[in-house]
Amino acid sequence: MAKAKTKFVCQNCGYISPRYLGRCPNCGVWNQMVEEVDQPASTKAKATPSRRVSDLESKPISINNVSFEKEPRVKTELGELNRVLGGGIVPGSLILIGGDPGIGKSTLLTQVSGQLQKLGGKVLYVSGEESASQIKMRADRLGITGDNLYVYPQTDMSYIRQTISEMHPDYLIIDSVQTMDEPEITSAVGSISQIREVTAELMNIAKQQNITVFVVGHVTKGGAIAGPKILEHMVDTVLYFEGDTHHSYRILRSVKNRFGSTNEIGIFEMQTKGLVEVANPSEIFLEERLANANGSAVVVSMEGTRPILVEIQSLITPTIFGNAKRTSTGIDHNRVSVIMAVLEKRGNLMLQNQDAYLKSTGGVKLDEPAIDLALAMSIASSYKNTGIPGTDCFVGEVGLTGEIRRVNRIDQRVNEAEKLGFKRIFVPKNNIGDWSKDNKIQIIGVSTVTDAMNKIF
Ligand code: TYD
Ligand code: MG
Repeated sequence: MAKAKTKFVCQNCGYISPRYLGRCPNCGVWNQMVEEVDQPASTKAKATPSRRVSDLESKPISINNVSFEKEPRVKTELGELNRVLGGGIVPGSLILIGGDPGIGKSTLLTQVSGQLQKLGGKVLYVSGEESASQIKMRADRLGITGDNLYVYPQTDMSYIRQTISEMHPDYLIIDSVQTMDEPEITSAVGSISQIREVTAELMNIAKQQNITVFVVGHVTKGGAIAGPKILEHMVDTVLYFEGDTHHSYRILRSVKNRFGSTNEIGIFEMQTKGLVEVANPSEIFLEERLANANGSAVVVSMEGTRPILVEIQSLITPTIFGNAKRTSTGIDHNRVSVIMAVLEKRGNLMLQNQDAYLKSTGGVKLDEPAIDLALAMSIASSYKNTGIPGTDCFVGEVGLTGEIRRVNRIDQRVNEAEKLGFKRIFVPKNNIGDWSKDNKIQIIGVSTVTDAMNKIF
């Protein structure tokens, strides 16, 4: 018999090398190459065309002649989840839910299972992490009962396949992909090869039998278990469950969606009886705000298709010794450095010998350019020890010459600020006139950071 060939696979990014390497040349991570036995290409043999591809569709066809059926969507009771999914669950899709351990993935899927079986679907909940009684305990706490929700503690994919073909469920939950074992694959459970193979298998099940599959994937920071990152290209939809386990708010973010827009977020609160959706996130993020406090500025940020108002806080204090410190939570560190450099050079604020601590409240990660103006004003406010009126808010991108550049969806942002009772909104001068409606809120156009500071302080 021929000697089994082995390869070394990076557990972080999936890079394959024939030799052992200390550092992965692809992603640069150390000590993550693990030896795995080379598998014959078993996925190839299994792959049959998905049932959606009929003969006709596989030929080139004029776009005018393509018949289009609107994807039917199943709506859960959680409106926030439906929106993140682009309007509901598309039957036969494969949805990956990633997140840190303990964030609430199993809780969310248990609740969703309960709701789906109420709608008449048959749900198979496969758990590789908990026993049936543990799942039952959680379901009891969440108030979920039902004849059509089946729990199945199992990790062996061959049994799972068989059960599915006998049971014909409408929904399949796999909790989690890292615990599933494809017996044909010799590498350890949780390794890259296993996870890939299990996911490919689940994709087949979803497409061939038209079963909607939810897959849980734990995100591990530099741990030995491979992260769900490597699966993103294989699945239809990727949702990440974010949040701080010390706080009760959880954010579900879609980072990939074949059936909807990405970057859409849904906000939930973890309560004693499970996850409850938060319909008005802006109100919650602004709830504990100290009005007129130094260093506080409110930004209207677009999260997917929804505008959300978030407070940015800065604390600027003189550096006691050595290099100035810059720390930020929820805001990109580089963005803070750029804005501080612009304020220094174009706004004449002496920031080089000041420590800066920045934070977006509520644990929201802000990463669009339109937050720049609020960021700059928050820093300036703390530096000048002058508060910004609590009824002001900001949108605008700051350029390197100190100019304020136009942003998208200004109309929606202004309306949201008005709805929440803000009196003034500072927007890029070039955005003025981008809408026709009369607003009650006072809209002030600014052209540079200096202009903005003159109008506010
Ligand atoms: P879990 O769904 O088990 O997390 P994951 O599957 O992502 O690892 O949720 C774990 C946390 O949620 C746990 O710390 C307890 C908390 N929790 C509640 O606060 N309320 C609830 O009703 C439930 C079921 C869990
Ligand atoms: Mg879990």
